[in-house]
Amino acid sequence: MCGNMPECTAILPVHVTAYLQDPGMMADFCIEKTSTPTSPERRAELLKDPKFGRVFTDHMVVIRYKEGQGWHDAKVTPRRPLEIDPASTVLHYGQEIFEGMKAYRGSDGEIRLFRPEANAERFATSARRLAMAELPEDLFLGAIEALLKVDHDWIPTNRDQSLYLRPLMISNEVFLGVKRADEYLFVLLASPVGAYFSAGCVPVWVSENYTRAAIGGTGEAKCGGNYASSLVPQQEAASKGCSQVLFLDARERRYIDEMGGMNVMFVRKDGSVVTPPLNGAILRGITRDSLLKLGRSMGITMSEEPIAIDDVFAGAASGEFVEAFACGTAAVVSPIGILRRESGEVRFGDGENAGPVALRLKEALTSLQRGEAEDSFGWVRRVSL
Ligand code: PLP
Ligand code: COI
Repeated sequence: MCGNMPECTAILPVHVTAYLQDPGMMADFCIEKTSTPTSPERRAELLKDPKFGRVFTDHMVVIRYKEGQGWHDAKVTPRRPLEIDPASTVLHYGQEIFEGMKAYRGSDGEIRLFRPEANAERFATSARRLAMAELPEDLFLGAIEALLKVDHDWIPTNRDQSLYLRPLMISNEVFLGVKRADEYLFVLLASPVGAYFSAGCVPVWVSENYTRAAIGGTGEAKCGGNYASSLVPQQEAASKGCSQVLFLDARERRYIDEMGGMNVMFVRKDGSVVTPPLNGAILRGITRDSLLKLGRSMGITMSEEPIAIDDVFAGAASGEFVEAFACGTAAVVSPIGILRRESGEVRFGDGENAGPVALRLKEALTSLQRGEAEDSFGWVRRVSL
């Protein structure tokens, strides 16, 4: 037992390592280990083909916040349902944000995170936009370190798999008035995953009836509401035989913004790559930013420019646009085979296989994430257990 929490069996002073500004920082996480851990045989079975988001590790992190008290009660507990009051503000007004990142196990057995400070920073930015309490970067990173210390056996060794980390925060003040809540709950889950898309090349539906976010809205924040509003267009996409939806700008419905859960890039026949600029409505994807920098370092012309949807349809038909791909933590680099809208469709390449530029960028990114390539950008964080 430790502190005043009877279920707590140990204190884990997580040394929030070299990637912090203050390398001496320690955060105490109370550890309550599950009494029914998954057996190694069952885990091996689950890791054979975990798909995306269905398999979870044995534990989770929970940290509480209360105005006046700050962040407190950090613990690693068995993964279990949360108990929240039905009057909790998140259930009514949707103050919820989340992140998506991955832990990789390299062929050398080392565990690596990719640009985790960027996720911590975006989590704080999302919190500010939703008027929520900000979780300090050291606690965000410390939570990841604490969970990996307990659940590292769940990090797959297969090169096409990783441990997806899902930090989230909800407001849980018990109050029905509409205001910024005074209490929050941070939770971190981990889920071993394979590819997000099962098919090789993704068919994508252009949403002409619905938009995702307007400038001045919450498009730049990673909040659940953005995804809730994407589900009807996503259903529309599915009814058209597509597995993702591409959104256009909310003002003119002319320029490409991004997809439901990933950014988008197009390759011209001269090998240059173009992606929509950060316009205040799209998510500042960490994969997007990494590919822009990596691509430039590989001699590829990478530009951020407004892309009119009509130009993409005309360019794909004329051979000006030869590849298109989605990019994001879950999607990594996923080629788009077909772009479809009410008035017709276009194909990129043979519509079934990734093009050479997408393949080169994907290989450069994933070999960096797995510690197989030199980390000249200083993006990779080794996790010491
Ligand atoms: N855009 C949206 C709407 C997303 O949900 C994601 C996924 O996180 C991305 C873009 C890509 O962001 P990142 O590369 O940081 O995962
Ligand atoms: C991610 O890539 O981490 C996301 O949050 C996107 C979602 C499609 C899972």
